[in-house]
Amino acid sequence: MYTGLLHTHSGLRYVLLFFMVAVLLKSLLGWAKNMPFGKLDNGLSLGLFISSHLQLVLGFILYFVSPNVQFTGAAMSEKAIRYWTIEHWVMMLVAIVLITLARAGLRKIKIDDLKHRRLFLWNLAALVIIVVAILQSGRPLIG
Ligand code: HEM
Repeated sequence: MYTGLLHTHSGLRYVLLFFMVAVLLKSLLGWAKNMPFGKLDNGLSLGLFISSHLQLVLGFILYFVSPNVQFTGAAMSEKAIRYWTIEHWVMMLVAIVLITLARAGLRKIKIDDLKHRRLFLWNLAALVIIVVAILQSGRPLIG
């Protein structure tokens, strides 16, 4: 079960990163060129929202089966154990909250330009956190 979950959680990162890059490019273009906020913009942002929430659920289950999550004082003094027990989920949760808030605020905004700007800035902040978190894990960002 652990290996299957780890592979799924690991693989889903690419789906999330695909939607993230697509949302960032599309919203930057929309913001810079004053383009209307269309169905594709909404669909890509929804894809990012869904894949990040799936990642949250998988990560949460993985947390309870991973041998790298340990709560003893001695284990916590090890860098890798501390990372998987505390740092990883805290940073990823902050990123997922940013992704969620970016989308949740869209409905209230009536100006398309501001919708693109919101998606771009909030999701860029989320991507920076995700990249820093994965790099800190010592595992490859891609591969
Ligand atoms: C944006 C969301 C997330 C991304 C992109 C992400 C990414 C990753 C990556 C790349 C790995 C390493 C997989 C491997 O080495 O094959 C991993 C492992 C792990 N993640 Fe996440 N993660 C996310 C959210 C979460 C959350 C919210 C939790 C906990 C609630 C979590 C818990 C874990 C655990 C426990 C491991 C396994 C460590 C191990 O046993 O080696 N992840 N994650």
